Amino acid sequence: MILNQWYAILPSRKIKKNRIIAVRRLNLDLALFRNKKGEIACVSDQCTHRGAALSKGKLIGDCIQCPFHGLEFDKDGKCRFIPANGKASTADITRYNVRHYPVRELNGIIYIWLGDKEKATGKLPFFYDDIDDSYVYSEIEDHWNSHYSRCIENQLDVVHVPIVHYNTIGKGSKTLINGPKVEFENGILTTSANNEVDNGQSPKAPADCVIRETNLNFIFPNLWMNHISSRIKVIIYFAPVDDENTILYIRFYCKIARFRAVNSLVAFIGKYANKIIERQDKRVVITQKPKASSYKSGEKLLVGDGPIIMYRRKREELKNL
Ligand code: FES
Ligand SMILES: [Fe+2]
Repeated sequence: MILNQWYAILPSRKIKKNRIIAVRRLNLDLALFRNKKGEIACVSDQCTHRGAALSKGKLIGDCIQCPFHGLEFDKDGKCRFIPANGKASTADITRYNVRHYPVRELNGIIYIWLGDKEKATGKLPFFYDDIDDSYVYSEIEDHWNSHYSRCIENQLDVVHVPIVHYNTIGKGSKTLINGPKVEFENGILTTSANNEVDNGQSPKAPADCVIRETNLNFIFPNLWMNHISSRIKVIIYFAPVDDENTILYIRFYCKIARFRAVNSLVAFIGKYANKIIERQDKRVVITQKPKASSYKSGEKLLVGDGPIIMYRRKREELKNL
């Protein structure tokens, strides 16, 4: 994992008011809960007393109570009460504190900060310039038995499109890969497919290609967007579960019509189209070995893998910061 990043990990709607849920993300077992006011918190899902899962407990006021011996922890993981010691106890109980993770929400996505809490940035990763409230979206999720780096690379891969998606978005046998051009500006990686039918011509160099209106964008650590047009986008946040598993949350955003109801319908249909494409990818990506990609992987990359090389390079830089 890259440290000191906000990771998009879960849709906000998964955690209702006054509820606790258990999730595994970023190789961690986490208990997320939302108090009556709707405020959200994230703590380690393992009690410091004798290891029970806090997510099996309940909320008492703004604290999560362990289901085993009743220790209570607040949203910052601080132990607030130990029933066995009694209300009158004044003993220092800070050694029972559980680990907590900074957590925030934006646009219906829950983000958690992995790394030094003091370094947590104010701005969450999102495509602020592209998506606003005028859009309607519809979301699906799917579990892939792959490391999140492989899932991300797949969405930046223009070479696989005519092969994997030969009967859907890659129809037309455009197997010759021009470029592609790859840019990295203001923290956003951008590229676009310039594929052509192979009539014996040589592929164009990346420098001779352009970024098209339909283009792919990525923001570290785990947010991707297909800018299909000025009115249709697809966003995926790749929630890392552990070293071999990822959950993809795929949103189809639409604002083609004047009426939100029409846009909702298009988004609803669009998300099922996404599912067909996504399943074509998944079938192959889950077979990749090793499960995680790396900068010095020894893989024999092609010129057309430029976006993947850029992703790996930037990821390596961030990991070494
Ligand atoms: S294991 Fe949690 S209170 Fe004992
Ligand atoms: Fe694909």
